[in-house]
Amino acid sequence: MSDHRAAVLPSPRAPLEVRSVPDPAPAPDEILVRVRAVAVNPVDWVIQGTGSVTYGWLKAPAVLGSDVAGEVIAVGSATTRFRVGDRVVGLATGTDKGRDPLREGAFQQRTVLLERLSAPIPEGMTNEQAAVLPLGVSTAACGLFQPSHLGLRLPGDGEASSDAGVVIVWGGATSVGMNTIQLARASGYDVVTTASPRSAALLVELGADSVVDRTSPDAIAQLVDAVGDRPVVGAIALGAGSAGPCIEVLRRTGGRNLAMASTPVSLEGLAGRRRLFPAMIPTFARIGVTMGVLMLRARLAGIRAGFIWGSSLRDDRLGERLWGGFLPGALGNGAIRPLPEPLVVGRGLDAVQEGIDRQRAGVSARKVVVSID
Ligand SMILES: NC(=O)c1ccc[n+]([C@@H]2O[C@H](COP(=O)([O-])OP(=O)(O)OC[C@H]3O[C@@H](n4cnc5c(N)ncnc54)[C@H](OP(=O)(O)O)[C@@H]3O)[C@@H](O)[C@H]2O)c1
Repeated sequence: MSDHRAAVLPSPRAPLEVRSVPDPAPAPDEILVRVRAVAVNPVDWVIQGTGSVTYGWLKAPAVLGSDVAGEVIAVGSATTRFRVGDRVVGLATGTDKGRDPLREGAFQQRTVLLERLSAPIPEGMTNEQAAVLPLGVSTAACGLFQPSHLGLRLPGDGEASSDAGVVIVWGGATSVGMNTIQLARASGYDVVTTASPRSAALLVELGADSVVDRTSPDAIAQLVDAVGDRPVVGAIALGAGSAGPCIEVLRRTGGRNLAMASTPVSLEGLAGRRRLFPAMIPTFARIGVTMGVLMLRARLAGIRAGFIWGSSLRDDRLGERLWGGFLPGALGNGAIRPLPEPLVVGRGLDAVQEGIDRQRAGVSARKVVVSID
């Protein structure tokens, strides 16, 4: 068996180290991919900085990363959609419970992807453009389509009626938000959203009919006005502090479903510290108390609220329906644009740590991407 290079998390809270690891062999339902570009998500610095508490099952050494674009170099015996040489984009789920982060993490030269969480990259789309997609679009799909969340109709499922209803997206300029807007529109739903004014024009281009400044003191009232008398099919809450306002908008508009993707208090400050104890105690206490209050407010308002796990579509039919059924055509004909635009911060595995630090420092409507040789 030969080796390749990987950016490895050697121990909790340590900087990534580039070292050799064995090439994985694809299982029957996997493809082996030569990685050409990866994108960085908030979860990468959350795991690096707080994983011993938040991802207790994930043991170092581990390879982090969810977003992969590259070329197929071997196919598993039960796969049917890919051939060696195909360019492919897919969701790596190595950091999930029960998975193998050294085999399945994104930040390495070779990794395995599940065929059902992969799609061909259309001609004319670069690896860096494609790499922005996987966790953003998967999380958006889980929130919109899983029955435990909004349970909406997938694109192409039955007739879209003109009054299908409105999805409220708080945090439309996030990576998950831009994908949520596009998927909801592709399924025939209207979208009202919030973002900083600098992102408003892009979100309208993607199909949002109203974009409210999320920092405005009357953002909730503006969202309620924007909904008007249309039925609300649910809200997707993205970003720290997004769930409370969503509950209030749902309460005032009669919406009944809330899907949340973010902790109510950001872990950014904690993730950058050398020691988690004792600083984590007040942060996690605030998260626990805030979540308890939010869930109670939701229940009292008759709203079903739940937390999205963006890679959970691996274990239900949604993964195959999104990645195998919908995305190949939608990426090819431009119905789904890979967004946010990539912000390429470097080339090679040595640049991945810089990419993680850059994402933790905050990005504005861009996705941090690293090209891999
Ligand atoms: N549960 C899961 O499985 C899962 C999966 C993926 C992501 N997430 C979470 O979802 C959130 C979004 O992740 P992402 O990767 O999509 O983010 P991202 O692309 O890094 O988001 C950057 C954008 O967020 C907006 N923003 C900043 N603070 C915000 C706030 N408090 N509320 C709403 N928007 C804010 C800014 O846009 P403007 O200033 O232009 O508005 C900025 O352009 C994060 O909390 C992430 O941890 C969860």
